[in-house]
Amino acid sequence: RAEVVINGSSSPAVVDRSNESIKHNIQPASAKWRHNQTLSLRIRKQILKFLDAEKDISVLKGTLKPGDIIHYIFDRDSTMNVSQNLYDLLPRTSPLKNKHFRTCAIVGNSGVLLNSGCGQEIDTHSFVIRCNLAPVQEYGRDVGLKTDLVTMNPSVIQRAFEDLVNATWREKLLQRLRSLNGSILWIPAFMARGGKERVEWVNELILKHHVNVRTAYPSLRLLHAVRGYWLTNKVHIKRPTTGLLMYTLATRFCNQIYLYGFWPFPLDQNQNPVKYHYYDSLKYGYTSQASPHTMPLEFKALKSLHEQGALKLTVGQCD
Ligand code: CTP
Repeated sequence: RAEVVINGSSSPAVVDRSNESIKHNIQPASAKWRHNQTLSLRIRKQILKFLDAEKDISVLKGTLKPGDIIHYIFDRDSTMNVSQNLYDLLPRTSPLKNKHFRTCAIVGNSGVLLNSGCGQEIDTHSFVIRCNLAPVQEYGRDVGLKTDLVTMNPSVIQRAFEDLVNATWREKLLQRLRSLNGSILWIPAFMARGGKERVEWVNELILKHHVNVRTAYPSLRLLHAVRGYWLTNKVHIKRPTTGLLMYTLATRFCNQIYLYGFWPFPLDQNQNPVKYHYYDSLKYGYTSQASPHTMPLEFKALKSLHEQGALKLTVGQCD
């Protein structure tokens, strides 16, 4: 009977904010790693007790109507009205209905991907998930091009597209959305009130220009369900990162899960500097007390799953 040990300690793990890269030595990609099918199935079953990716990946049209009031998940006192545009973009059926893939790649945004040469390998997976509209064109060799689902926190519009202040930025976003070419665009619209206008701008752009993307807006219960699953496994996460959300969802429809670009540490295993993101100059914000994420803690849990064969983490170069 395969046992899942995600976090060995019984007390809440404390985040060590020093450089942890030395502790997290991971074998190079080429080293022997075997998929543990029994364990993967067991994890899927456990996660299904908390959430079902097929349902929770998006609110569906039948469940909301224009004008409905929604309380933000992290700002319960703030509300939003479901706009006509948002309603129009809600899917009728789950974008993952009856989907099963042999292998999935989840591509995180760490600078550890730079010079990894992992692009080709990433593109061979049956389903490729990316985070926060991270650019691919210029980085194809290291991150690949294939995108089946990409997430977009509303904050991305501010960080990467200058809050669409002028026509040039609107055009840049439009081009990026067009390049998705029918993939799923996953927008956490109901998390925090700060994203309200940004989500509306994107919705409007998609509708106005008939952009070919399949929009999805995660269910109101997803965040708590994901936290609940990890808490039960003694991983005390304040607010799961996009990467961890994606892994948790992917267990439902992927047989084997491969993670790339997950490395929340400023130095690599050989003590060379690593950029926080492979594509911008954002700094290691997670070390600030104000940051809601506990990425190193999540990483520890993922590394443990890697060692047990439930997922494969690649943090070095691909063959
Ligand atoms: N990630 C990582 N190490 C880094 C940067 C990112 O492991 N140095 C992983 C995390 O799982 C993260 C994912 O890659 O969720 C995508 O990165 P990013 O866009 O920074 O993620 P968010 O969690 O959405 O961050 P934020 O809330 O700041 O938008």
